[in-house]
Amino acid sequence: MASNNGTGKPYIHCKHVVKAYTVGDHEIVALRGIDFSMQRGEMVAIVGPSGAGKSSLLNLLGGLDTPTAGQLSVGDLNLLDLKGRDRADFRLRKVGFVWQQVERNLLAHRSALRNVTLPMMMAGVGMRERNRRARELLDAVGMREHAHKRPAQLSGGQQQRVAIAVALANQPDLLLADEPTGALDRQSAEQVMDLIGRLRARYGLTILMVTHDMQMAAYADRTLTLRDGALGQDLTAASQDQPPALDADGRIQLPAAVRAHLDDAARIAVEIRPEGVLLRAEQASEDNTDLLLQDMLPGRNGLNRRRWPFRRGGRTSEERQS
Ligand SMILES: Nc1ncnc2c1ncn2[C@@H]1O[C@H](COP(=O)(O)OP(=O)(O)OP(=O)(O)O)[C@@H](O)[C@H]1O
Ligand SMILES: [Mg+2]
Repeated sequence: MASNNGTGKPYIHCKHVVKAYTVGDHEIVALRGIDFSMQRGEMVAIVGPSGAGKSSLLNLLGGLDTPTAGQLSVGDLNLLDLKGRDRADFRLRKVGFVWQQVERNLLAHRSALRNVTLPMMMAGVGMRERNRRARELLDAVGMREHAHKRPAQLSGGQQQRVAIAVALANQPDLLLADEPTGALDRQSAEQVMDLIGRLRARYGLTILMVTHDMQMAAYADRTLTLRDGALGQDLTAASQDQPPALDADGRIQLPAAVRAHLDDAARIAVEIRPEGVLLRAEQASEDNTDLLLQDMLPGRNGLNRRRWPFRRGGRTSEERQS
């Protein structure tokens, strides 16, 4: 699936990328030396806990911010060299963004159509072409018949469809999506992910998506973890393995790569959340939290919404019942 544009050179290349923010007298290091590449046409998901640096990485790749140190290139462009107008041009034409929050994606007082035409207007595209392309894009995202509605008149899933059309308005090569389905119910989220997959094929997009949801990450070719500003385990093997499932005895069957990650844990905390089950390996030592994988399973109504730690090798469900 991931072609390499014939040169073998990655489309996205990050080397030792560091991002530090200065807040008053403090320095917050959000990214601690990221090494990361993507081939043209690839789709990669990044998962990780809040504050891990996921949005910081997306902001750098989209030219919204500059790294404190390291090298960063997208296509033939070295993002550190991009200044002023060239940087603005990169943001406008080469990359499309989809955020979780509708107010960041769409202007409330403009119709869906006029939201899609706006980036083209800023890029100097003529009116006829703007309207033609906007209608084509709204058609591609299944929103043509809602073209004249404002965001408030649309459902969350419909708003994200329009947001995707806006992101693609100037025909970018790269789509950066920060929790694009985070505010959606599961059915709408799956529809949006299906749509992203279709648009990827149709327009040859390279896609980097941040998500908390392993089911959404499964749409990507690769899933990487980001924690405390550092890239960690590549979960791709896990996503290609059997998905987690409850067996007939009520045991959770996890992919082998996930089990391997839990094996060293002294204890494992389980948290039932509406969006899925969180498994957290806890070490006996001081740094006792190892956030492993979020949202491994869809919420199941029959389970108690409570949190409990259990010991590995503890009693089986049969023993507990006896
Ligand atoms: N503009 C900023 N100024 C100062 N600190 C920031 C800024 N943006 C992010 N940070 C800090 O950098 C770290 C990484 O933040 P970032 O927003 O990249 O995390 P994230 O993984 O996207 O989290 P979330 O899942 O909550 O969106 C956090 O400690 C955050 O507080
Ligand atoms: Mg974020």
